[in-house]
Amino acid sequence: MEATIVQDKTKHYPVLLKEIISIITPQYGGTFIDCTFGQGGYTREILKNKDNKVIGIDRDTESLIIAKKIEKKFPDRFIFKNLNFSKLGNLKLKNENVRGVLFDLGYSFTQIKDLKKGLSFNFRGSLDMRMGLNEFSAKEAINKLDGKSLIKIFKFFGEERDSKLIVKNILKDRLLKEIDTPHLVKIIEKSKKGNNKKIHPATKVFQALRIFVNREISELIYGMIHAARVLKKDGLLVIVTFNSLEDKIVKYFFRSLSEHKSISRYQPDKIHEEILFKLHQKKPIVPSTLELKENPPSRSAKLRCLIKKENIYDFKTDILDKFKDLIEIENLGHNL
Ligand SMILES: C[S@@+](CC[C@H](N)C(=O)[O-])C[C@H]1O[C@@H](n2cnc3c(N)ncnc32)[C@H](O)[C@@H]1O
Repeated sequence: MEATIVQDKTKHYPVLLKEIISIITPQYGGTFIDCTFGQGGYTREILKNKDNKVIGIDRDTESLIIAKKIEKKFPDRFIFKNLNFSKLGNLKLKNENVRGVLFDLGYSFTQIKDLKKGLSFNFRGSLDMRMGLNEFSAKEAINKLDGKSLIKIFKFFGEERDSKLIVKNILKDRLLKEIDTPHLVKIIEKSKKGNNKKIHPATKVFQALRIFVNREISELIYGMIHAARVLKKDGLLVIVTFNSLEDKIVKYFFRSLSEHKSISRYQPDKIHEEILFKLHQKKPIVPSTLELKENPPSRSAKLRCLIKKENIYDFKTDILDKFKDLIEIENLGHNL
């Protein structure tokens, strides 16, 4: 998984910013929800129009420092909530003209290089991985979960082919002492000897652990459902993904809400079921050559956008059922 790169604390690089602004057209006014506020890259751009309001959401309390500064500058037009975006439905938005809800998934570079968070094997921090408002850390998962659960996590969230061997070695080593980041990387390197040299051997296991610890699948699914509900007519749901699993889920949700399913002739009442959404474009938008040059980690970014056609706030979706196996794997964390 790649992160949105934020070069340093003063100069940060919001991925696909120009493309997002041209899609959401903030010059026409309205309320926007920035579900992944981060360092406020999108929010700041939207607030340039004095007719706009932004509700910023982020689970990481580090975002509060930047959010407070923006709140001070725009007290009537910006509020920040330290919240998981899966809880978007708890916000009172009845009277808001919500024209856009934005998700820029992944992590900021500030988070990636934070040793306390230990999100990356490149920065040998603690084996933690909590972005904020979590129930358990990666260290607890690695040292306490049973082998079968760990294999599922590595296989389904990281597509790690050597899951079984890696887990066998984790179970053996953790009998002697608690496993930390350098130790986990060593176990993976030992287990995957001679494998693919293109990516670091720990890449897939670390991606899987980040997804599991932060419940990224459930967060994304519930976040999208609430976002699609709160939008007004012509409102836009814009999502930037950074790995194939996220993109598969977003693509499915957008397609399923914007297409007529083949309907059984034995269910005539369903024929008139309304399609409430349409796709902004079929293919995802990807970074330009210039952006790739300036910010190489943006290379895995894919932007998809859904448009709401009516002021209707409830709709049916089968997405929870479609991805129930992945949600069940995340629920294994309840045992910790
Ligand atoms: C890639 S950064 C966003 C960067 C932002 N667009 C900017 O320009 O500064 C992703 C942010 O989303 C936050 N985040 C990730 N998952 C979240 C969730 N489920 N609920 C709330 N915030 C989340 C992370 O803490 C991180 O700050």
